[in-house]
Amino acid sequence: MSERISIPARGRNKDTILDELYKLHLNDVSWKEGRAWSMVYYVDQEHQQLLEQAYNSFFSENYLNPFAFQSLKKMELEVIQMTAGLLNGDENVTGTMTSGGTESIFLAVYTYRERARQLFPHIKQPEIVVSTTIHPAFEKAAHILNIVVKKAAVDQNLCAQPQALEKLISPNTILIAASAPTYPHGVLDPITEIASLAQARKIPFHVDCCIGGFMLPWVEKLGYPVAPFDFRVPGVTSISADVHKFGYGAKGASVLLYRNMNYLKHQFYVATDWPGGIYASPTLLGSRPGGAIAATWSAMQALGQDGYLRITQEIMLATSQIRKALEDIPEIIILGNPVMNILAYSTRDNQPDIFVIADQLEQKGWMLDRQQLPNSIHLTVMRQNISVIDQYLEDLKASIIFAKEHPAATAKGNAALYGLMARIPFRGMVEKNVRKIFEELYDFSKTAPLQDEETPSTLPPAPIWMGQLNRVLTAVVRVKGFWKKRR
Ligand SMILES: Cc1ncc(COP(=O)(O)O)c(C=O)c1O
Repeated sequence: MSERISIPARGRNKDTILDELYKLHLNDVSWKEGRAWSMVYYVDQEHQQLLEQAYNSFFSENYLNPFAFQSLKKMELEVIQMTAGLLNGDENVTGTMTSGGTESIFLAVYTYRERARQLFPHIKQPEIVVSTTIHPAFEKAAHILNIVVKKAAVDQNLCAQPQALEKLISPNTILIAASAPTYPHGVLDPITEIASLAQARKIPFHVDCCIGGFMLPWVEKLGYPVAPFDFRVPGVTSISADVHKFGYGAKGASVLLYRNMNYLKHQFYVATDWPGGIYASPTLLGSRPGGAIAATWSAMQALGQDGYLRITQEIMLATSQIRKALEDIPEIIILGNPVMNILAYSTRDNQPDIFVIADQLEQKGWMLDRQQLPNSIHLTVMRQNISVIDQYLEDLKASIIFAKEHPAATAKGNAALYGLMARIPFRGMVEKNVRKIFEELYDFSKTAPLQDEETPSTLPPAPIWMGQLNRVLTAVVRVKGFWKKRR
């Protein structure tokens, strides 16, 4: 058993701590150099400094009690109003700030469940209707809140199909949700059509604009074709939009908007019998970091509409450049019809194997999201990626040549792992094994203690975890083959 790490017996020198923090960064992906195609939404150093200063100026303030911190209340209300305006809401549109997309989605699902409990008490087993491409945060929320998720297949362009959603509606449906756009492929679900069927049946309709909320409005203003997706569409009852994505605020900030207070009121929680006093909370968290609110408000003030438009234009031009270059590579296909700066690409008939290409790109220092159903590579084009597009495309072309020359590479490395994942018919087995990896990750009797400042990571590097998963899944496929033969 490894030795448990404890709080240092004596406080350490500030400079050594900061030095250690700096070294910890060295094992991370070089996102600032554009090596990651997701996760970090960055403008530039100047904007970063403003966010840090704004965050620090409200570093200690706690938005647990809005009456104690009028400053935070003012900033939250202004962020909500600015977002409502951006998404074409009228003066009745209202909402709250949350800690991120997952909390916004969780709260939307919770709010509609509470609403149904009050208005339709005969519904004993509430259901939500979504498409397979909806963000997993909906399933996670439904799992926690004991709600059944009914998932409809998407069409050839990977967009939600209104008729398929309609078929899943039952007297127990408390919510329909769709994406503007979807995370995996950046395609826009047909919001108007889904909204009209929801409205006809008096079912609330949430639009997940977590990634698109601070991008699509500018994309539309720049003249790119964007079908209506926001409060202009009758029947849309709520929208989530993350300011910590393309709003370029600090991490920990999203906005959840409802068409009016008749929906939002179901989100509030009040405990009246607590010895600590009457406890009331508008969102999921108790203590809420003031810094995230202050940084977000400052980001919107500093960028202004002209700043958002300028950055969006740069990103969209870069996206067109990379899209065109991908389309010119004969082996590559772009999935669906992406509407903003998200692209998912694969190979025609998976020849050569897209995951072998992904492995090669990874070896060349790119961090990638490998996607499944269908297999593809995801790109969210960020500002920091712009200067490395040519390099990426060059490495991609070399990786395609390698993959064509080495078809056996499919059986090795991460390509094998992801290939196996896709082939395993029992998703329960995949889940079980991924859970096991998490258990090991957090099993401190097995992880090595943090001793050496030169090698600061307590976790084995990703490929080892991948290798473990690979072994487990290979075994699963073999067992499956064995049973098939017996039958
Ligand atoms: C469409 C969509 N919804 C929800 C989320 C979840 O957001 P978060 O990671 O901030 O919880 C994401 C994250 O990328 C997203 O793209």
